[in-house]
Amino acid sequence: MNHRQKQSPMTSSAVFLIIISALCFASGGVSALGVNWGTMASHQLPPKTVVRMLTDNNIKKVKLFDADTDTMGALAGSGVEVMVAIPNDLLKAMGTYQRAKDWVQRNVSRFNFNDGVKIKYVAVGNEPFLTSYNGSFINLTYPALVNIQTALNEAGIGDYIKATVPLNADVYNSPPDNQVPSAGRFRSDILQEMTLIVNFLAQNKAPFTVNIYPFLSLYLSSDFPFEYAFFDGQTTVNDNGVIYTNVFDASFDTLLASLNALNHGDMEVIVGEVGWPTDGDKNANVANAERFYSGLLPRLANNVGTPMRKGYIEVYLFGFIDEDAKSVAPGNFERHWGIFKYDGHPKFPVDLQGQGQKKFLTGAHNVQYLLNQWCMFNPNGRGNISKLGDNINYACSLSDCTALGYGSSCGNLDANGNASYAFNMYFQVQNQEAQACDFEGLAIITTKNISQGQCVFPIQIGKPSSGHYDCSYSFMVRFGLVMSGLMFLLMT
Ligand SMILES: *[C@@H]1O[C@H](CO)[C@@H](O)[C@H](O)[C@H]1NC(C)=O
Ligand SMILES: *[C@@H]1O[C@H](CO)[C@@H](O)[C@H](O)[C@H]1NC(C)=O
Ligand SMILES: *[C@@H]1O[C@H](CO)[C@@H](O)[C@H](O)[C@H]1NC(C)=O
Ligand SMILES: *[C@@H]1O[C@H](CO)[C@@H](O)[C@H](O)[C@H]1NC(C)=O
Ligand SMILES: *[C@@H]1O[C@H](CO)[C@@H](O)[C@H](O)[C@H]1NC(C)=O
Ligand SMILES: *[C@@H]1O[C@H](CO)[C@@H](O)[C@H](O)[C@H]1NC(C)=O
Repeated sequence: MNHRQKQSPMTSSAVFLIIISALCFASGGVSALGVNWGTMASHQLPPKTVVRMLTDNNIKKVKLFDADTDTMGALAGSGVEVMVAIPNDLLKAMGTYQRAKDWVQRNVSRFNFNDGVKIKYVAVGNEPFLTSYNGSFINLTYPALVNIQTALNEAGIGDYIKATVPLNADVYNSPPDNQVPSAGRFRSDILQEMTLIVNFLAQNKAPFTVNIYPFLSLYLSSDFPFEYAFFDGQTTVNDNGVIYTNVFDASFDTLLASLNALNHGDMEVIVGEVGWPTDGDKNANVANAERFYSGLLPRLANNVGTPMRKGYIEVYLFGFIDEDAKSVAPGNFERHWGIFKYDGHPKFPVDLQGQGQKKFLTGAHNVQYLLNQWCMFNPNGRGNISKLGDNINYACSLSDCTALGYGSSCGNLDANGNASYAFNMYFQVQNQEAQACDFEGLAIITTKNISQGQCVFPIQIGKPSSGHYDCSYSFMVRFGLVMSGLMFLLMT
C-alpha cells in the first residue's frame, strides 16, 4: 500500500516531465532554425516580402549582415529574432568607444521596444580572420567586440543582447588537415586574439559563432571524401573510438576541442552559417543541396547534436535568397547559396521541421517581374562578329554569368547560346532598357523564352520603387526625345 502510494506521484511527475519535454521538443523543432538574409543582389525583393516569407515558413530567427533601416523596419513587430551585424569595414571605427556606443544606440537600442525588433545578438564582423583578408582585421576585432558588448551593457540591454563574432571554421585546424576532432586547436597565427575573444565571450555569457561549410571542404580539397560531406555516406573517421560519419560533426567537435584547450569546452556554440549552393560548380547543384539538407535538417530537429555534445544546436542556414552581386572571389558558387532563387521561388523541397517531407517552402507573394522579354545574340544583325568576345566580357563583367562555367546549369550551351546568356543577364540587370540590348549591333530583343533545358534565362524582378522610377525614367526619355527632335528641327 505504502509502496503503491509512493509510486503514483512519481508516475504522474514522470508523465508531467514527458509532456514538458514533448512541448519543449515541439517548440524546439519549430523555433530552432534560423536563416541568413544577405542583400548583395542587383534586384532585391522588398524587405516586407522577405519578412512574409520568413513568417509564412515559420522561420523564427534571422541573421543579417548589417542593420539596414528598411530591413529593420520590415522586421519590426514580426516577432522574428534577429542577429544584427557590424560589417568588417566598420570594425576599425568600433575601436573607438564613442562610435561603438553610437552604433548600439542607433542600430540596437532604437529598435528595442515593444513590437520593435527582437534583437538577440550583435555580430561583430563577418569571418574577420579569413586568411584571404591577409590579417587586415586581426587586431581590430577584439577591441570592437569589447566596445560593443560594453555599450550594450551600459545601455542596460547586455543581459539579453549579446555580442559575438561569426568566424569561419578556418580559425581552427579543420578536418581533414588534422586527423581527429579531439586534436582541435585554434590556428597558431591568431591564437592570442582567439584566447582574448573566447575569454571575453565566456565572461559575458555570450556564444561562440562558427560557420561550417562541408561544401567548401569538398571544393578546396580534391582528396576530400565526397560522401563525408553528407550525412548518409559510408565514410567514417575513428577518433580514439568515437566514430564520425560526416564532416559537419567533425568540424563542430574540432571547435569544441579547440575551446576546451582554452578551458572553455562548455561554451555555447552557434552555427552562424551552414548550407549548400546549387550552381556555379560541378558539386553545386540541386540534387546535392537536397541531399545535404535532407540529412542535416532532421538531425537538427531531433536534437541529435554531435558525438562530443548531444542536444540542441542553434543553426542559421546559408542562405535564404540567392545574391547575384556577391564577390565570386571564393568561387562561382558564391551567388547560388539560397534555398530560394533571386525572385523568392523555392528551389527544391526542404522540410525545415525536419520531418523529411518532400514539400516546397512557401515562396514570395506578389512578385513584380519585368516584361517577358529576353536579349539574345543576333548573328545576322549589323554587328561585326569579331567584336563578340569583347561584348560578352563586358556583359559578364557587369552581370552574373556564373551559371556558364564548367559543370554549371548553363555549362553545356554552344557558343551562340553563351553569347545570348551573357547578353540577357546584362539586359535584365539593366532593367531591360532597350539600349542595354545592342552590343554594337550583335544583339536583339525577343519575346520568345530562349531558355534551354536546365539552363534558365531569367526575367528580373522589378525594383521595389519601380513604379516611381519607371514613371520618372520614361518622362526623362520622352523629354529627351522631344529635346532632340527640337534640336533636329533647329539644325535643319
Ligand atoms: C547603423 O547601421 C548602418 C547599417 O549597417 C550603418 O550604415 C550605420 O553607420 C550605423 N549607425 C551608426 C551610428 O553607426
Ligand atoms: C591579400 O594579399 C594578396 C597577395 O599579396 C592580394 O592579392 C590580395 O588582394 C590581398 N587581399 C586583401 C583583402 O588585402
Ligand atoms: C597586430 O598587433 C601585433 C601586436 O601589437 C603586431 O605585432 C602585429 O603586427 C599587428 N598585426 C597587424 C596585421 O596589424
Ligand atoms: C570586322 O572587324 C574587323 C576587325 O576590327 C575588320 O577587319 C573587319 O573589316 C570588320 N568587318 C566588317 C564587315 O565590317
Ligand atoms: C561558353 O562559356 C563558358 C564560360 O565562359 C566557356 O567555358 C565555354 O568554353 C564557352 N563555350 C563555348 C562553346 O564557347
Ligand atoms: C522559360 O522557360 C523555362 C524552362 O524552359 C522556365 O523555367 C521559365 O519559367 C520560363 N520563363 C518564363 C518567364 O516563362
